[in-house]
Amino acid sequence: MQTPAEIDTQNIPQHIAIIMDGNGRWAENRNLPRAVGHKHGVKTVHDIVEAARELGVQVLTLYAFSTENWQRPKVEVQALMGLLKTYLQNELENLIRNDIQLRCLGEKAKFPEDVREQLDRTIQKTADRQGMILNLALSYGGRNEILTATKNIAKKCIAGTLEVDDITEDLFSKYLYTTDLSDPDLLIRTGGECRLSNFLLWQASYSELYFTDILWPDFSKDDFTAAIKDYQIRQRRFGKTGSQV
Ligand code: FPP
Repeated sequence: MQTPAEIDTQNIPQHIAIIMDGNGRWAENRNLPRAVGHKHGVKTVHDIVEAARELGVQVLTLYAFSTENWQRPKVEVQALMGLLKTYLQNELENLIRNDIQLRCLGEKAKFPEDVREQLDRTIQKTADRQGMILNLALSYGGRNEILTATKNIAKKCIAGTLEVDDITEDLFSKYLYTTDLSDPDLLIRTGGECRLSNFLLWQASYSELYFTDILWPDFSKDDFTAAIKDYQIRQRRFGKTGSQV
């Protein structure tokens, strides 16, 4: 088992994104309702946010609820909304103390009013924190994000405030939820599936992907460290040859 001491502290991924998968199976394996898996998943969120902050990660992006997740049984969606609200309430002081700024990537307006209010409150109360940015992807879908950006750019072109020739990759990126943030260096998916599931489709172009069978409620700080260590032995070439980088 790796320890944080073995990590190269000079090569910590600046931006780590995580698809937190496996809560449902964790609960089903124990004959428990799926919501219990999500509840244990919240504890893992707390631990991994803490670990990321301790290691000096600058941006942590967690896929907490996709645009597709609205199709889940009503009882599960309600449980997730309740857990999100409680998490935001319980963690506010922690976030402030640990200098963590909360942001939301996604369709915030779709959330029930009480959850949205708590989200806005947490975003507003942590807005000046500089130690780490914690992005919660909520009602987030990568295709939807790209489509929305495209529509907003098209509107500016039609209004004559933007020239088609001025649309660059950099400009396009500014229209995404992640706006000014750097792309994820490392993208982790727990729960054994090897796919992106509509997560950060634009931003993950050159992310290093790390898949683990560990179910999210079981994913520990040591497992997180192991993922970073695996990242640290990779060579990132960004399309160049090995000798060029
Ligand atoms: C995927 O597991 C997980 C989700 C859809 C929700 C993730 C939510 C949490 C970790 C808790 C709430 C989050 C915060 C930030 C408070 P799954 O249900 O698809 O698992 P399965 O693939 O085993 O069914």
